[in-house]
Amino acid sequence: MTNTHRIAVIAGDGIGKEVMPEGLRSLRAAADRYGFAVDAVEFDYASAEYYLQHGQMLPDGWFEELRGFDAIFFGAVGWPDVVPDHVSLWGSLLQFRRSFDQYVNLRPVRLLPGITSPLAGRKPGDVDFYVVRENTEGEYSSVGGRMFEGTDRETVIQDTVMTRTGVDRILRYAFDLAQKREKKHLTSATKSNGISITMPYWDERVEAMAAQYDGVRTDKFHIDILCANFVLHPDWFDVVVASNLFGDILSDLGPACTGTIGVAPSGNINPDRTFPSLFEPVHGSAPDIAGQGIANPVGQIWSASMMLEHLGEADAAAGILSAIESVLAAGGDALTRDLGGTGTTSSLGATIAAAIADR
Ligand code: NAI
Ligand code: MG
Repeated sequence: MTNTHRIAVIAGDGIGKEVMPEGLRSLRAAADRYGFAVDAVEFDYASAEYYLQHGQMLPDGWFEELRGFDAIFFGAVGWPDVVPDHVSLWGSLLQFRRSFDQYVNLRPVRLLPGITSPLAGRKPGDVDFYVVRENTEGEYSSVGGRMFEGTDRETVIQDTVMTRTGVDRILRYAFDLAQKREKKHLTSATKSNGISITMPYWDERVEAMAAQYDGVRTDKFHIDILCANFVLHPDWFDVVVASNLFGDILSDLGPACTGTIGVAPSGNINPDRTFPSLFEPVHGSAPDIAGQGIANPVGQIWSASMMLEHLGEADAAAGILSAIESVLAAGGDALTRDLGGTGTTSSLGATIAAAIADR
């Protein structure tokens, strides 16, 4: 019997609506090629248009509506001319991440063929690692406040929150990932020289976890030199695990080292599978190029690959990634403008989908 994956599809705003059809086209090509079925249900919320009609980003019943899906395939949200960004983001994507306890933010950092790295002399294979970011606590807490507003004594405090549960579960995910990879190498981002309470605790938990993973080589860097080493020695890394804030920074710096933002994917993952995980390109809705049909669809398509990996379709996930790589390596006019070609969102999407069917 064919395995069917039920996917909630939310395209969102701007180029989200243009790259999503290409993500779906590749997903369906992979389903045909690798023998599974996709039941994709599209939702129009988490968009500026929905907000204009309803005065909120999501319908009241969104949680019950989405929770039963196997995964959420997301485009991009945000249209600042109509809805302020903090309203659109907090009203939609961040609700999903928190309510569905997607405590892992996973970003592959991989230099693809056909793309020039801004780091001189780097070629595909030199840069190939993952950033694993804690996505629910840490520095991004709601503990704190503001006192004596508007006076000389004005005081603002925001506390970092690290729980053993929260720290251990992100570390476990990262160690598990490292163990599955060829290099079996985990790097921890810390700052225990300057941040003298939470970061030594983080280091302690890393050590405790490392003791349970004999085969994994573990090291750590303070976040400042770690950032420098992403640029100077990207070949040193395999799996990099970080708290919410450090992970946020590293997960933009890493993909930036691999070229255009249009190709980078991400997963917001609930490894316990108590709720659906969400897969989306790293880029936003790009109002500056929306409506022109020139957005690069690779970030959305690669996100489909990550989603299939999560859903247990490893061959299909690898097939999509290798199709992307072969099309990028062939280069030429098929590529979109950001990659130096003359292709459109749909022509590049169609070329990749055809390459998936040909695997
Ligand atoms: P952005 O990622 O939308 O665009 C940044 C720059 O990269 C723009 O010049 C854009 O044209 C270019 N770009 C982005 N994706 C591209 C693609 N696929 N192909 C070719 N070029 C691409 O970030 P920006 O401009 O800061 O934000 C625009 C809106 O998107 C805002 O409302 C923001 O809140 C939202 N946003 C949403 C995210 C999400 O849904 N996860 C993530 C980042 C931003
Ligand atoms: Mg960020």
